[in-house]
Amino acid sequence: MTIEWVNHTDQPVFIENIDKQRYLDPAYLDLEWQSVWRNTWLLAGLESDVASPGDYFVFDLGREQILVSCGSGGDVQGFYNVCQHRGNRLVSQERGRAANFRCAYHAWTYNIDGALNVVPYEERFAKGVPCEELGLQKVHTALWSGFVFINMAPNPEPLAQFLGPVADILAPYRFDKMVVVEDQTVELACNWKAVVDNFSELYHVDFLHPQHKRMVDCCNDTVHLFDNGHTGLAVPGATVNPRFAVPQAPTDIQSAQLVSLGLDPEDFTGKVMDVREAVQRRKREIGRERGFHYEQLEDNQLSDVWQYNLFPNTIFSFTPEHLWILRPRPHPQDPAQCVFDKISLVMFADPELAQSSAEILGPGRASVSRSGFLPDDYVRPTRDVFNYAAVLAGEKTMTDTIDQDVELLGQVQAGMVSAGFQQTWLNDDEMRIQHFHNHLHKCINPVS
Ligand code: FES
Ligand SMILES: [Fe+2]
Repeated sequence: MTIEWVNHTDQPVFIENIDKQRYLDPAYLDLEWQSVWRNTWLLAGLESDVASPGDYFVFDLGREQILVSCGSGGDVQGFYNVCQHRGNRLVSQERGRAANFRCAYHAWTYNIDGALNVVPYEERFAKGVPCEELGLQKVHTALWSGFVFINMAPNPEPLAQFLGPVADILAPYRFDKMVVVEDQTVELACNWKAVVDNFSELYHVDFLHPQHKRMVDCCNDTVHLFDNGHTGLAVPGATVNPRFAVPQAPTDIQSAQLVSLGLDPEDFTGKVMDVREAVQRRKREIGRERGFHYEQLEDNQLSDVWQYNLFPNTIFSFTPEHLWILRPRPHPQDPAQCVFDKISLVMFADPELAQSSAEILGPGRASVSRSGFLPDDYVRPTRDVFNYAAVLAGEKTMTDTIDQDVELLGQVQAGMVSAGFQQTWLNDDEMRIQHFHNHLHKCINPVS
C-alpha cells in the first residue's frame, strides 16, 4: 500500500498537527473572515445562471452576500448585496431575472449594472443624493470553465494565477458544457473545514463506506499538491480493489458500465481486471458517435474518478460525464455550524456530433434523460435546502456515500470539544488535509 505524492509547489511538504481550536474557537473564525474569505477567489456559482442581461444569483457566504448579475452589456459582475440607503439586504431571491433591483424598504432602485437610478422623494434629501457615489459596491469577478468566481480583496491576483496549473489540468473535462441536474444544500453541525478534511482523504472509505471497498483501492493513489492550497487525487474506476480476492465475474457496477457502452459483461468472466482498459478503449471508439468529446482526455481519465479541491472550499469530484461541486460555506458566527452544497452536473450528448445517442453511464443523467441528449423541456432545478436531521431520518439523500459522511461529521465536531482531544494526528493518506491547513495557516499568518 503506497500513497504517492506529487508536490507541484517549490515548498517542501511539512507535517504539523492541527490544533482543534481551528474548528472550535470563534476568534479563529474571525481570522478566517479577514484573511481567507475576504481575500481569496471563491467559486460563487455557475456562469449558466447569469447568461443573459438581468440574470442574477445571490452567493450567500456567512457574513456576506454577493449579488452576481449579468449586466446590460452581457458581462458578469459582483456586488455586495446591500442597499446604500440604510443597509437593507437588497435581493432576497436566491436566483432569477430582474429588470432592476428595488430595495423593499424605501424603494431605492438600482439598474442591473448596479447604478442607483430611482430614489423616491429625492427632493427631501436636503444634502442631495449623489447617485454616482451610491451605486452598489462592487467585488471582483472572474470566469473560468463555466464558473463565476468572486474576490472581495481590493486588488486580488488574477484568478488564473491563483488556480495555477490546476486550470489547465481540468480544462479537457469541459465543465462549462455540463448541465445542472440537482442542487442541494444541507445544514450541518460542524465546522466548514471538517467537510473539506473529509473530502481530502480516502483513508475513511474502507470503514465508513464499506460498499466501496471492493471497488476502489484507496491506499494506492497519487496525490497532487499545488500552490495556494489546491490539491488533487485520482481514483481508478471501472475496476475492483486488488487488495481483495478478484471476483470471477464483473461487479454490478462494472457490468452496468459495460452494458451502457454496448459491451457484454460475460465476455469479461475471469478477466475482471481487464474491464477498466476495455471501458477506456470503448469510450475512445464510440465517444464521437455518441456525441461525447473525449479527444483531449487521456485514457485513465476516461475511466477514473478524479477529485480536485480548490482552496478554500470548492471540491470537484468528476468523471468525463459528470461533476459534483461540493462546497461547504461557513456560518457567520458559529464555528460549529456550516452549510454544505452539492450541485450535480452532467455532460449530455452534443447533438452536433451525434444524430442519435445513448446514455453513457454517469450518475444523475438518467433522472433527466435516457436518450443521452438534453431534453427540450429541461428546467434548471431549484436548490433544495434541508437539515442533516432530514438525512438522518431518511427523508433526504445526497447519495448513500455522502449521507454516510454527513451523518458522521456532527460527531467529529462534538468529539473535538472534549477535553480528551487536542489536535489531529494525520497519516500519509491525509496529506491533502495537511496541505490545505498549511495554506490556511499561511493566509492567516502571512509573515511566519
Ligand atoms: S434601506 Fe434600501 S431603500 Fe432604504
Ligand atoms: Fe466519505
